[in-house]
Amino acid sequence: MARLFLAEETALGRPVVVKVLAPDLAQELSLERFTREIRVSARLQHPNIVPILTAGVAGGVPYYTMPYVEGESLRGRLKRVPSKERMPVGEALGILSDVARALAYAHERGVIHRDVKPENVLLSRDTAVVTDFGIAKAIDGARAAGGGGATLTQLGSTVGTPAYMAPEQASGDPALDQRADVYAWGVLAYELLAGEHPFAGKHSPRELITAHLVEAPPPLDQARPSLAPGLTMLITRCLAKDLPNAQAALASSSIRSPRLPHQARPPLNMFVQRRNHGFPPSPSFRSRTRAATRRMSRSATGSRTS
Ligand SMILES: Nc1ncnc2c1ncn2[C@@H]1O[C@H](COP(=O)(O)OP(=O)(O)O)[C@@H](O)[C@H]1O
Ligand SMILES: [Mg+2]
Repeated sequence: MARLFLAEETALGRPVVVKVLAPDLAQELSLERFTREIRVSARLQHPNIVPILTAGVAGGVPYYTMPYVEGESLRGRLKRVPSKERMPVGEALGILSDVARALAYAHERGVIHRDVKPENVLLSRDTAVVTDFGIAKAIDGARAAGGGGATLTQLGSTVGTPAYMAPEQASGDPALDQRADVYAWGVLAYELLAGEHPFAGKHSPRELITAHLVEAPPPLDQARPSLAPGLTMLITRCLAKDLPNAQAALASSSIRSPRLPHQARPPLNMFVQRRNHGFPPSPSFRSRTRAATRRMSRSATGSRTS
């Protein structure tokens, strides 16, 4: 889907990362649309967002550059947590808080990430920064505009990563909004605090997508009973399958919580005005889910994304 190169910006003598879209994907894209979307993401300036430095098209292939973030990805950090142990709560909350602040800022500007996952969270010293902002949407939108519209079979390789995909994203809803990021943040939070993904044991894209659509994760307070109940409830709400029918206040308006270095502070009182319907899902959601599951059973899914 894309290749990453570590390069040196010779004028300034600094390392930069160049992200180059795969040529076969580039062929399907409307370059104009892609450039337009990248411009929107490039306007994001926030301490927890990896900025876009430059973007362009070389030989028909779109690319953009960003600073090289020294450190490791959150995925790398998770791999270093010894088995049978979990990330300390304070560390997890610090990371989650940084990611939430990045999302809140972007949501306020109408940008959704659509691919929140540990690989897109980079840890540099004691700060977490989010990368690939809006790239999934840029690719997906440009693909649709270029005639290569995403179908359910392409979901895994276009609009998100199955392990972190909100139910509405998994069911192919074309009108995704910030709530998809709230859900993915909830998956991330659960994974960091419980020590395993809410649907651990599901591995194929199809299994994961189905689980997001219809399965309840094991209760977080059982996985980690020592967590503050408010925090457990908040994360559980983020993982709600159904979206409120009424147009409730957008999550981002409540996301501006201060950094939470440890559990003693009030929990991340944000996001959840919207994603708070829990189980059982509403009839309309259930019928959409059934339709999506039927479509999925007719098609194979790909793997993942930007
Ligand atoms: N700006 C960056 N600085 C340092 N490492 C990065 C940067 N952007 C991405 N990475 C690392 O490169 C890896 C590959 O990134 P990417 O091509 O976006 O695929 P994915 O996010 O699906 O893993 C990421 O998992 C991350 O660890
Ligand atoms: Mg990435």
